[in-house]
Amino acid sequence: MYIPDLIRKKRDGEELSALEIDSLIQGYTQGRVPDYQMAAFLMAVFFRGMTEEETAALTLAMVRGGTRVDLSGVPGVKIDKHSTGGIADTTTLVLLPWVASAGVRVAKMAGRGLGYTGGTIDKLESIPGFRTSLSPEAFVDQVKRIGLAVTAQSRALTPADRKLYALRDVTATVESPPLIASSVMSKKIAGGADHFVLDVKAGRGALMPDERSARELAGIMVRLGRRVGREVTAFLTDMDQPLGLAIGNALEVAEAVEVLQGRGGGDLRVLCLEMGVEMVRRAGLESDADRARRLLEAKLESGEALAMFRRWVEAQGGDGRVTEDPWRVLPKAPFVKAVAAPADGYIRDVDPRRLGHCVQKLGAGRARKEDPVDLSVGVVLGGKVGDRVRAGTPLATIHAASVEALAEAEAEVLSAVTLAPDPVPRRPVILDKLGS
Ligand code: URA
Ligand code: CA
Repeated sequence: MYIPDLIRKKRDGEELSALEIDSLIQGYTQGRVPDYQMAAFLMAVFFRGMTEEETAALTLAMVRGGTRVDLSGVPGVKIDKHSTGGIADTTTLVLLPWVASAGVRVAKMAGRGLGYTGGTIDKLESIPGFRTSLSPEAFVDQVKRIGLAVTAQSRALTPADRKLYALRDVTATVESPPLIASSVMSKKIAGGADHFVLDVKAGRGALMPDERSARELAGIMVRLGRRVGREVTAFLTDMDQPLGLAIGNALEVAEAVEVLQGRGGGDLRVLCLEMGVEMVRRAGLESDADRARRLLEAKLESGEALAMFRRWVEAQGGDGRVTEDPWRVLPKAPFVKAVAAPADGYIRDVDPRRLGHCVQKLGAGRARKEDPVDLSVGVVLGGKVGDRVRAGTPLATIHAASVEALAEAEAEVLSAVTLAPDPVPRRPVILDKLGS
């Protein structure tokens, strides 16, 4: 196939066949199609879009170029969850042990943070001893044994996505619904689960800046699932402010433990509970939503969800005491300072993107894939939009590696978290649910 013809076809808004898309993707993965041709193709897709047939063909071509996880030996319905990425998004750490304690089997491949958004693998690595790289056999075996395993994405899985994502990152072609949908769904399909529960985020801290574009992306993924024989439920959620209160790797682990101990609450708990209800229902453990909710609440109150978190941590070599007293084992930043509210009032805005960048600059995030991260640093918010504050009480607490970093972060926190004198309405975290 002559590649410039395929690029021209897409440039002119024509539809490509599945065969054309497959040969382009395999050619690229195997090194026959150079980056400059793929870059031109991606930009044509960015402007022209793809039909849903093309998006499905692209997704399956990406799956075909790599290996797949075989979960057929694990009994029951296997469910995977995925978030399009946000700030203070600790759902995986809370939700997975919670639903596993109710009998849902979860096998998840997770990523590292890039840019200003965090990654589950980095967060887990702040627990001393935790192994984030399991062999395919150990991964499947652990799901069979305790019902839950999380591992870093294997290099052999969807190599096309690895290469394409890196190229998109440097050619301004990340924010394209068909390209995001094929990237997410190819990884989910290769991961081997039967059903996917997706969290598609909308707002300044997300890939999709508003509800309309996030809804479009969610719809594409739900229909794409149907086309390729997978059930997909997509939650549309607010990322115009951080989800939880903690931003930073170890700090987020501590917040997850707090929620599993039944102490933490707020939007993080609400979202985990509702996604959990969907997972319990999809796994066939409870068909009625209210009963599924009561089942999960009981697992939290009885301590079984927390006990499952401990089993999981210990199964992967981590220090299980993190579930009793997180700060006995998690890395602590040397400089900690509370930023005081300048006046009485209500929180008007908590800008997630600014806070994400602030925490990245503190050292918790990577600018490039190979950069190391400081697991101890970050920011813990004192509240979210609509919460009341009094002058002098903490708007946020900063955890930093140096006095200079602390001072810089303090100025950024004060511009990211703004107050109003009069009451401000709270924002709902779940905007909609599609595909169920
Ligand atoms: N997450 C992914 O896995 N891929 C994208 O393209 C965007 C978000
Ligand atoms: Ca709906």
